[in-house]
Amino acid sequence: MTKSQRTLVLLKPDAVQRGLAGATLQRFEQAGLKIAGMKLMKIDEALARKHYAAHVSKPFFPGLLAFITSSPVVALVLEGPRAVDLARKIMGETDPVKATPGSIRGDYGLSIGMNLVHGSDAPETAEHEVALFFKPGELVDYSRDLDKWIIE
Ligand code: RTP
Ligand code: MG
Repeated sequence: MTKSQRTLVLLKPDAVQRGLAGATLQRFEQAGLKIAGMKLMKIDEALARKHYAAHVSKPFFPGLLAFITSSPVVALVLEGPRAVDLARKIMGETDPVKATPGSIRGDYGLSIGMNLVHGSDAPETAEHEVALFFKPGELVDYSRDLDKWIIE
């Protein structure tokens, strides 16, 4: 079986507020990704600053910080072969207007700042982000019988 990867996905405040947590999570599950960790949580400013450290000098940073801390998110660790790239494909491009129909942002989004989901952008980033949001004991290791029909 192909080696598994883990990625951090956030269902952002707009997704939870709009009642789209289930619909968005379903797309990742339907593609075959396995849930290894999941929790509803409010991101505080310290965590938001660490998570978005790469964007600290961008003009949109203050707004991004205010938005991500404004209301709860669902934090997920999703697992599967090439999970990082697959999750990004399911999400669609950052700007919902550029995201293709069929992607989460393409189907549900309108504004770049409220684009429903976050996904790690590389395996190294994923490892760092998973450790920021989850303690090792919060991640669950288990096998699924159906994986033999999903993963070659
Ligand atoms: P994310 O980190 O949330 O998964 O999104 P991404 O990789 O597709 O985009 P990234 O460049 O990492 O930007 C992080 C978030 O900042 C907001 N943003 N606003 N106003 C703007 O020009 C702008 N650019 C980015 C977006 O909400 C984006 O998801
Ligand atoms: Mg990003």
